[in-house]
Amino acid sequence: MDLSYILNELGEERQNYYNAVAPPILQTSNFASNTVADMRYMLQHEPEVHLYTRGNNPTVTILEKKLAALEGAEHAIAFGSGMAAVTAAVLSQVKAGDHIVCVKKPYTWTNALMQRFLPRFGVEVSMIDGTDPENYREVARPNTRLLYLESPNSYTFELQDIAAVVSIAKQNGYSTIIDNSHASPIYQNPLQFGVDLVVHSCTKYIGGHSDVMGGVICGNRETINKIFEREYMTLGAVMSPHDAWLLIRGLRTLPVRMERVAASTRKVVAYLEQHPKVEKVFFPFSPSNPQYELAKRQMRNNSGQFTITLKTDSMERVEAFCNSLQHFLMAASWGGHESLIFPIAASYTDSKLKPSLPFTMVRFYIGLEDPDYLIKDLEQALEQV
Ligand SMILES: Cc1ncc(COP(=O)(O)O)c(C=O)c1O
Repeated sequence: MDLSYILNELGEERQNYYNAVAPPILQTSNFASNTVADMRYMLQHEPEVHLYTRGNNPTVTILEKKLAALEGAEHAIAFGSGMAAVTAAVLSQVKAGDHIVCVKKPYTWTNALMQRFLPRFGVEVSMIDGTDPENYREVARPNTRLLYLESPNSYTFELQDIAAVVSIAKQNGYSTIIDNSHASPIYQNPLQFGVDLVVHSCTKYIGGHSDVMGGVICGNRETINKIFEREYMTLGAVMSPHDAWLLIRGLRTLPVRMERVAASTRKVVAYLEQHPKVEKVFFPFSPSNPQYELAKRQMRNNSGQFTITLKTDSMERVEAFCNSLQHFLMAASWGGHESLIFPIAASYTDSKLKPSLPFTMVRFYIGLEDPDYLIKDLEQALEQV
């Protein structure tokens, strides 16, 4: 399907709302029936008809149609956050007594779901280095049901060979889920490699303006309908119509923003890679990255995140570098218009929990600013190291 058609037309029934170019925000919890027969029909045909916004809302439906098409999926279901989508997707595939194999260093709260939450309900989880697909096979057990991927993963951006992991899953009857937030649906479509379910934090690139939260699961119609009847309706983590509207607006410019982010990020990374105060840059699209060929094979382009380690053993110098940046905001998320840093040093506290990553690491996200403006800022801040 044509990308321009998906972003500008698909799912929009303008003749039903005065030919307005932007869709209406149907801010309602309830949809009324005229007769008992009508209501009987609605009860039997949800989610194809609109009955109650915890199940289905027309503004949210427009977004779901577009996101499904962007991932080449039959169907999609939107949630109030990326984490709600991750949790619902994982819960939909396992029950007590099952085992999951999950890539190491996924997003922080996915890690918490795997290591702290699911074991309370009798689900076992093994975390593996996903750079070798055989690791998924090696730790599998007779009760393994699900292989979980996040490619590239969080903070150090290691890739999993999606086709190879899917092949192991298919040989053994496991299902597969991938968090595709990092690449966005513009630069990677894992369903093409045979993955069963793709999840996104729409809070990131899809929204693109740091003003809305959302999540989505994309997959085949049967699985998504099952998720609707079970996890979606019981967990109740729904997306509001207003948030869906903001995400539809974000989608209009997604490819343009991704293009700009990709080019600026490459320029900033090239600057940092040659800087004497930078020890290492973690970026899948660096020709020196051992996974560069894999990155080019399964992703269409780089996106805006990378991590550096600074050449110092002083926490004070790391903090001075971060604090002196003028045009990067210090914040947790990414994917918006604004460039950000997330210093790992901030997770070093007096508590007994020891962070697993070095305090010299700083994660970056490059937004829509002029890359030269950002490089100038980095130049002055690196003098602090
Ligand atoms: C890779 C990844 N997946 C999922 C999430 C969770 O998304 P949300 O914050 O929308 O719940 C995040 C959030 O930072 C993330 O980075």
